[in-house]
Amino acid sequence: MKKRILSGMRPTGKLHLGHLAGALENWVKLQDEYSNFHLVADWHALTTAADRTEELAENTREMVIDWLSAGIDPQKSPIFVQSHIPEHAELFLIFSMLITVPRLERNPAVKEQAQQLNLEDRMAYGHLGYPVLQAADILLYKGDLVPVGEDQVPHLEISRELARRFNKLYKKIFPEPEAKLTDFGRLLGTDARRMAKSLNNSILIADSTEVITKKIKRCITDPARVHKNDPGHPEICPIYYYHKKFHPATLEDIKTGCIEGTLGCVEHKNDMTRKLIDYLEPMWEKREYYEQHPALIDEIIEDGDRRARQIAGETMAEVREAMKLP
Ligand code: TRP
Repeated sequence: MKKRILSGMRPTGKLHLGHLAGALENWVKLQDEYSNFHLVADWHALTTAADRTEELAENTREMVIDWLSAGIDPQKSPIFVQSHIPEHAELFLIFSMLITVPRLERNPAVKEQAQQLNLEDRMAYGHLGYPVLQAADILLYKGDLVPVGEDQVPHLEISRELARRFNKLYKKIFPEPEAKLTDFGRLLGTDARRMAKSLNNSILIADSTEVITKKIKRCITDPARVHKNDPGHPEICPIYYYHKKFHPATLEDIKTGCIEGTLGCVEHKNDMTRKLIDYLEPMWEKREYYEQHPALIDEIIEDGDRRARQIAGETMAEVREAMKLP
């Protein structure tokens, strides 16, 4: 039997190139070798957007369209929505009894987010439990592997601990899921910070030719290169990373040109804009198709929900029996 992969994202709307390079392409690549489940983590989105629930449905649609456009095949890999499968909440509740508050407070991923959002003493109870819900997402489907970035590893450690704790206390039902790290790290945003929607520095997969051209034109490059002939430092330039990701075949030439000051930033930007558009164009075509057939998205999710619900129901039956909670 194929090993199972559980991957998920919070529905934040249209995805950016960082999502594509850091996660989505990896999901597509893994589709044949593993049995994949793709989760829209809409309850997780409530940790930071409980006051904006009216955006969730649209954000889910846009995200799922990006998944499909990037090549996720929903027949092979069900796409489903967390809040459509109440078993996630049930297992979350049970897991929340098996982990201490201090353990959750020590989680560096939650700590960092609390700092960024200035939440220190106003964090919601459910936000602290974010990784507990994530553990339920993964273990309901007995996921063996979880494709994540470095930043998610602390969350996954909690999934592993919960699996061990449950197995020891009741019955060995769950695998200890492992992180499957993506080889391509984060892409830089157009301001050379990490690419993030909240930082307003991202290029979206679905951006038009005009928007991409404008964003790349305004993109920060190496500040040392005031004149074209000034030697540059490619490793601090976002355009260099776009090149590395989206056109690696010519990376060495670009690198040399930058370091030796023979390739100007404007020239490189124009070149990269064309290469990026070529790369994204097939995805735009698929997006257009799905935008013209909106009912198809509903059908894909309904089918994914049905397949997920089947497995989630079976796992919860095992859990209740192991716990003597008939
Ligand atoms: N925490 C993940 C993120 O922020 C989203 C997520 C929720 C997830 N549940 C999951 C990822 C289960 C993998 C598996 O991106």
